[in-house]
Amino acid sequence: MSPEIAFLHAFAQALAASALYSPAHPARRRAIDAAFERLRILQAEDAQPCFSFLGRDVIYNRILLRELRDWEWSAKCAAAGVQRIEVLRDATGDEVAAFIDDVMARMFAPPGAETPPPRQTAIRFGVVGVQPTGGDAGFLTTAGGSSMIGDLLSSTIHFTLTEEADTVRWMHGEVSRTGAVPLVEAEAVVRSLSVALHADGRLMIPLLRLKAFDQYTTTHSINVSILVMALAESLGHVPRDVRALGTAGLLHDLGKVRVPPDILTKPGALSPEERELLERHPADGARLILNSDRALTLQAAVAHEHHVWIDGGGYPRRRFSRDCHYASTVVHVCDVFDALRTDRPYREAWTSDRALEYIERRSGKEFDPEVTEAFASMMRRHERDVVGVDERSTLGTSTDAAHEANTPEPVPA
Ligand SMILES: [Fe+2]
Ligand SMILES: [Fe+2]
Repeated sequence: MSPEIAFLHAFAQALAASALYSPAHPARRRAIDAAFERLRILQAEDAQPCFSFLGRDVIYNRILLRELRDWEWSAKCAAAGVQRIEVLRDATGDEVAAFIDDVMARMFAPPGAETPPPRQTAIRFGVVGVQPTGGDAGFLTTAGGSSMIGDLLSSTIHFTLTEEADTVRWMHGEVSRTGAVPLVEAEAVVRSLSVALHADGRLMIPLLRLKAFDQYTTTHSINVSILVMALAESLGHVPRDVRALGTAGLLHDLGKVRVPPDILTKPGALSPEERELLERHPADGARLILNSDRALTLQAAVAHEHHVWIDGGGYPRRRFSRDCHYASTVVHVCDVFDALRTDRPYREAWTSDRALEYIERRSGKEFDPEVTEAFASMMRRHERDVVGVDERSTLGTSTDAAHEANTPEPVPA
C-alpha cells in the first residue's frame, strides 16, 4: 500500500476511534499514534503532502487516488468543511492529535454550531479558498472590485490554479509530442477545478487572467472548464456528468496543438490559408481525443462541434444538417464568453455584461436559446462570485500552442 493511502486509512481509523472512545482511552491514543507514524513515513517521501476531498473522491497533490474512489471518509470530511489538508512541515505527535481533535469537532458539531478555528500547527485544513497570487491582503477581488480577503479566514486553505495551469501546459506539450492525451492528469485537473468551484463552501467562479497572449490556450481551457462545470451544476447535472462536461471544456481546443503558433498569436486578420489551418483544430482535436481513449465520445464530439452554430453556420461545415450534441452547445456558449472577456492581440477584453449581451443577441442563431438563458442567468446571479485569478506560474519559459482567433469576430455593439 502506498504511504499516502496508508496514512489516509490510519487517519480514518483515528477519527473512528476518537468517535468511539473517550479522550483518555488507550485505543484512541493508539489509533492517533498509528496515524502519526503513517504520516512520518509519508513525509519521508513527500515533505509537504496535500489532500483534497471532493465528494467521495480524494486527490493527493494533483493525482486522483483511484484506490479510494467512493471513500466514505472523504465525503464525511468534505461535508464537515475539511475539503483540503496540507502538511507544511514535519508534524509532531501532539500536532497530529490536535488535528484529529479539530476534525472531529467539526464532524460531530451540531448543525449550525460554531466551531473554534483550527489550531495553527504543521497540519492545516479547511475549506478551499482561492489565492490568485502569493501575497498580501487585497489581492483577491470580486468582479465588482471589492476585496474578499476579509471573507477568507486564516483557517482557510488557500487554493491556487498554478498547478492546474502548469499541468495543462505540460499536457498540451505531451499531446503535441506524442499525439496522446494524458487523461489521468486531465481528469485530476478537472477534479481540482471542481474543488476550486466550491471555495469557501459555496459556488465561486475563479477565472484565470491571461498573463501573455501565447498562454491563451492554457488560460482559456481552464476557464471554459470552470464555466461549463458551473453552468452544468446550476442546471442540476449530477457530479459525474458535471465532471464529464468539465473535461470536454478542458479539451475542447486540444486540436490547436497542431496549429502553427504564429497563426494563433497573429494580431491581424488571417489569410484564407491561415484560416483554413486554424479551422482544422476541431477535427484534429476530436481525432487526438479518440485516439487516446475511444470511450471519450462526448469530449470528442465537443471538440469537433464547438464552433458549429445551431443554425448550421460556423465550422467545420457539414454536408448534412444535424443537431449538435447538447454538451457542444454548452461548451460553445462558455467558449465564446471566455474569449470575449479576454484581451486578444486584436482587441481589448469586453466586460462580462457586454459579452453576455452579445451571446443573448445571437441566441437562436448561433447559440442554443435554453443554454444561453441558463448561462446568462447563472452569470448574473453569481456576478459577485466571479474571482479573477492571476496565475503564479513556475514554468516561465514554457510556451503553449496558444491563442484563438476562431471565435467569430463579434460585431461591435
Ligand atoms: Fe476552438
Ligand atoms: Fe475555445
